Amino acid sequence: MKIINTIAEMRFFRSQITDMVGFVPTMGYLHEGHLSLVKQARIENSVVIVSIFVNPTQFGPGEDYAVYPRDPDRDFDLLQKEKTDVVFMPSVEDMYPLGFNSWVKVDGITERLEGACRPGHFQGVTTVVAKLFNIVEPTRAYFGQKDAQQAVVIKKMVADLNMNLEVVVLPTIREENGLAMSSRNIYLDPEKRKAAIILFKALTLAHQLYNEGERGAEHLRQEMVSLINKEPLAKIDYVSIADLETLEELSTINHSALASIAVRIGSIRLIDNVRLL
Ligand code: PAJ
Repeated sequence: MKIINTIAEMRFFRSQITDMVGFVPTMGYLHEGHLSLVKQARIENSVVIVSIFVNPTQFGPGEDYAVYPRDPDRDFDLLQKEKTDVVFMPSVEDMYPLGFNSWVKVDGITERLEGACRPGHFQGVTTVVAKLFNIVEPTRAYFGQKDAQQAVVIKKMVADLNMNLEVVVLPTIREENGLAMSSRNIYLDPEKRKAAIILFKALTLAHQLYNEGERGAEHLRQEMVSLINKEPLAKIDYVSIADLETLEELSTINHSALASIAVRIGSIRLIDNVRLL
């Protein structure tokens, strides 16, 4: 496994490959969710490249950029076991040199849900992902359904800007108790970890009601809200039943929908979602 730390070296490596390249962009501190993407990339491509870059431009002021968990040596071990070919780990100075002044912005779908709670977040995500795509030139790039809105936004960017790659979105990997895996779960002490299960419980309830035939979106939202409010440590940022592609809130579910929630457990903000199909 090769570790590449500069854009110039990454470009040189890429210029010598003619086979299919599978790419998994990450911010590191890897868990089974990330590794499920790497495994699929390994199956579908000749060369697998994983980036580890904690991207400063997608964190708002007061968010956890400075303390975002990092453990590159552990990440390298995990990636080696998955037979990753290249880990691309550029520096902030290389990605955002002095005078950097260009941004990729997707309108509309970025204004809702996570975008409404975290202004500027998606502009940071689309800019860094566009840059990484330009550097790595992947055949396929892999994203998790865990960050459902991010996946929708990236797909839209790729379609709108005619980027020459396939975006693959894979299911959310969960702990045994249902908690969606996340690098930020490290912030949860045992009490908060227990409380955090409320996210999965609420989504499971919505899914169950949907399967029983409920199509009223407001009813589903209300059921989720009242369940989450039973957990004293939980504070709701949003509870949404939205269109899978436009992410617009629905009143009635006609075909399918995305049930997504953002909840603070103490000061730790967690997101999760299920698709109602
Ligand atoms: P990060 O949070 O490290 O996630 C990297 C990828 O792993 C994302 O596509 C995310 O959706 C996926 N992922 C995270 N938890 C998952 C889980 N439990 N199951 C399945 N997939 C999971 O998302 C980012 O980094 C950044 O925004 C990035 C795209 C790298 C741009 O900076």
